[in-house]
Amino acid sequence: MDEKERDSAVSGSPVMGRRGFLRAGASVGALAVGAGAGARAMAEGTPDPLITEQQPWASQWGDGVDATPYGLPIRFEGDVIRRNVPWLTADVVSSINFTPIHALDGTITPTGCAFERHHSGAIELAKEDYRLMINGLVETPLVFTYEDLERFPRVNRTLFLECAANSGMEWAGAQLNGVQFTQGMIHNMQYSGVPLRTLLEEAGVKPEGKWVYVEGADASSNGRSIPLEKAMDDVIVAIKANGEALRKEHGYPARLCVPGWEGNMWVKWLRRVEVTDEPVQSREETSKYTDTLADGTSRKWTWVMDAKSVITSPSPQMPIRHGKGPLVITGLAWSGRGAITQVDVSIDGGKSWQVARLAEPGVAMALTRFYLDFDWDGSEMLLQSRAHDETGYVQPTKDQLRAIRGENSVYHNNGIQTWWVKPTGEAENVEVSS
Ligand code: MTE
Ligand code: CO
Repeated sequence: MDEKERDSAVSGSPVMGRRGFLRAGASVGALAVGAGAGARAMAEGTPDPLITEQQPWASQWGDGVDATPYGLPIRFEGDVIRRNVPWLTADVVSSINFTPIHALDGTITPTGCAFERHHSGAIELAKEDYRLMINGLVETPLVFTYEDLERFPRVNRTLFLECAANSGMEWAGAQLNGVQFTQGMIHNMQYSGVPLRTLLEEAGVKPEGKWVYVEGADASSNGRSIPLEKAMDDVIVAIKANGEALRKEHGYPARLCVPGWEGNMWVKWLRRVEVTDEPVQSREETSKYTDTLADGTSRKWTWVMDAKSVITSPSPQMPIRHGKGPLVITGLAWSGRGAITQVDVSIDGGKSWQVARLAEPGVAMALTRFYLDFDWDGSEMLLQSRAHDETGYVQPTKDQLRAIRGENSVYHNNGIQTWWVKPTGEAENVEVSS
């Protein structure tokens, strides 16, 4: 593939053949990382004023402790923010923004930049005005105040929330140039709250009760049916996230956490849990959040988020600026079916794979951070990552997924992402056939 073909392949059609890239002579291979290779040597005769001169910050007072009673990121980090895609945002009160996962590290999503999705806007609901009703097929219908919730035994659990529509715009081909937009409908927080089971047991579920219907206090109500088995297993009514009160946009003062299951079921501003003998078949589980296949039929009750991973850096928003040599390749992996056990990284579009290093052992239904410590020779790469979870499931390629699901679905696209990293260090969202 010559320069011209490559350019037209990128701008004209995002789908490109893997072989074309390899013919272009990208020589690839993991090299040992030389210790300290990135550190700047202090050359004689070129003194660095940052070392030799006294700097303003060392010769005057800094801010007092009262300057930031509640802290925000330093102004130099002002672009690490939620962003939306204007053409997806017909109306901001019924829309979505995206977590800047390209710029984050570790696994916990800072609350202030965790994506939001609202069907009818984020509402302001004071704790005093909060009520949670449990009704339907129960011995004793109950209404809890926020203070009541605080008196039940609590659990802590770190969980990812992924919108079922995450990567939904990528079904037909590579489209959005940034991991924030292609995989950023996800956040991972430590929740503190009351197991839903405890509240249901307080009300006493009747033997006919087989489902719960959960809804929020906002105008959309976002009602969803959840099998009683899941509701009694690990669902949490959360009142804190990352140690502090939920943010308004994440459901203050209480939201549902449904570990491993699609974000739409994580009802915010939770106001009612009705025990029923069958699912309600609400709008959000019939015309929406079902996956239309090539023949026009739809998959239903696709609650679990299958294993997925993505390289967050380098990526289109995180080009390589330092040239060849030691390069930290990093990303995130997660599975709604349990813990991540392994992540593989490819630099040649899935032809060969290397096992990445997990920063910490995978935690069930939480994000896992992976790294590949790599010595980049400056040639182009087709970067991919592939997640494995504890059930033995391996993240599929987009072609494998499309062969089964077609291209009509918006939801549950967990296919392997490819970044074309050019010798300049710039990266682009592309696809390779597989
Ligand atoms: N709950 C209510 N009450 N209203 C909503 O609009 N949106 C749902 C879910 N719960 C929604 C809701 C969807 S589609 C998703 S992906 C998650 O909330 C988003 O949660 P977040 O805004 O905390 O990211
Ligand atoms: Co959603």
